[in-house]
Amino acid sequence: MAVREILTVPNPILKEVSKPVDKVDEELRSLMDDMLDSMYAADGIGLAAIQVGVPKRVIVMDLDWGRGERNPRYFVNPVLSDPSDNKLPYEEGCLSVPTYYDEVERPDRVRIDYLDYDGKPKTEIAEGMFAVCIQHEMDHLEGVLFIDHLSRLKRQRAVQKVKKLARLRDQDDAA
Ligand code: NI
Repeated sequence: MAVREILTVPNPILKEVSKPVDKVDEELRSLMDDMLDSMYAADGIGLAAIQVGVPKRVIVMDLDWGRGERNPRYFVNPVLSDPSDNKLPYEEGCLSVPTYYDEVERPDRVRIDYLDYDGKPKTEIAEGMFAVCIQHEMDHLEGVLFIDHLSRLKRQRAVQKVKKLARLRDQDDAA
């Protein structure tokens, strides 16, 4: 297991559409292990493979992280359907847009079909924060970030903030 670098905006790789996984094998599980480590190291609750530069339809998540528990979830080739009409406004953040948070509205309930860590097909109904998080991560697989749901002005502000942060970090590293 290893912590990998998480790409941040405006890295163009984040705009790529991820490809379906052919087989859930040891190599893919190793990627999922690394993704989980990287997510925990960055204090996140969800991560898509493209955020570590791998364009595969893979998501890891742990909604209990931060509550002192570990309850990792793995989603391979996830497909969402049956979104509720009811929308939930939620203050979202993203490890690829560090330190920027803003409200996005999404359906508060959605069905997910996916393969788990062992490659077994699963179906779940996600509600509340789980529904928000899986839709946010699914967007990553299509090259969409949560800031793409905001106004152009807000999006530009978010990217500028992250660029500034990256510059400061580079200066620190050089010092
Ligand atoms: Ni994200």
